[in-house]
Amino acid sequence: MRAIVASGELVAALRAERCAGASIGFVPTMGALHAGHTALVEAARQRHDLVVVSIFVNPLQFDRADDLERYPRDLGRDLDAAAGAGVDVCFAPSTDEMYPCGEPVVRVCAGALGAVLEGASRPGHFDGVATVVSKLLALVSPDAAYFGEKDYQQLVVVRRMVADLSLPVEVVGCPTVRERDGLAMSSRNSRLAPEERRAATVVHRALQAGRDAVIAGSPLDEVIATMARTVGEEPRASLDYARVVTPQLGVPQGPLSRPLRLLVAAWVGQVRLIDNLEVVP
Ligand code: PAJ
Repeated sequence: MRAIVASGELVAALRAERCAGASIGFVPTMGALHAGHTALVEAARQRHDLVVVSIFVNPLQFDRADDLERYPRDLGRDLDAAAGAGVDVCFAPSTDEMYPCGEPVVRVCAGALGAVLEGASRPGHFDGVATVVSKLLALVSPDAAYFGEKDYQQLVVVRRMVADLSLPVEVVGCPTVRERDGLAMSSRNSRLAPEERRAATVVHRALQAGRDAVIAGSPLDEVIATMARTVGEEPRASLDYARVVTPQLGVPQGPLSRPLRLLVAAWVGQVRLIDNLEVVP
């Protein structure tokens, strides 16, 4: 695996590969790599000659300085994990390398898609995501970019950005990878104390209860109440939101018709967890 920190070197290396006919799959990450990330690498490896992973903790998408500061960083370990997963090129730029003129003046705005759900709790988050993803896509110019359904709203925003800005890349969504007890894998899970870690399974349980309610024919407000009640039964957890949306994040109108996405965000101790579940027809 080749590790690259300079964007000029990355562009030159990938241009040479592309000229030689290589197809490129790209997995953007913020590091602290786990099995959720390596599943994206695995999906990319199935389809491309070359897999590029980026590791960059993007300050622009953090609305809280303490969250940015506490984000787990261990580049040595991540490079080993990436090499072990079969990554060909790992791009790990510094903040100055990514934002050479300082805070970017021209940004990508996620608009209404970025103002709801996670965006309502974290103002500016999706503008930060959209801006850095568009920059990374410009540097890597992949054939396809791989994103996890774990961050469902992010996947919707990125798909829409690619369509709205006519970016020549295929966006591939990959299923959420979970621990055996259902907790969605996340770099934030490492910040849970053992008893919080046990309590954290409530997020997935709430989504399953919500899905059961949809399948049983419950109306929208009852499905939401079911998810909220499940989280409420866990004393270490406090609900941020429980929602039911259409695949494009719209509010369902009238009797619930599938496909739907159920989303839950909850605090367990000092850690904010998000997860979601699809309910198919
Ligand atoms: P990060 O949280 O590191 O996630 C990188 C990618 O891994 C995202 O597409 C995310 O959805 C996916 N992922 C995380 N946990 C997963 C799981 N349990 N199962 C499947 N996929 C999972 O998301 C970001 O970084 C950033 O916002 C980024 C897109 C890199 C822009 O900075």
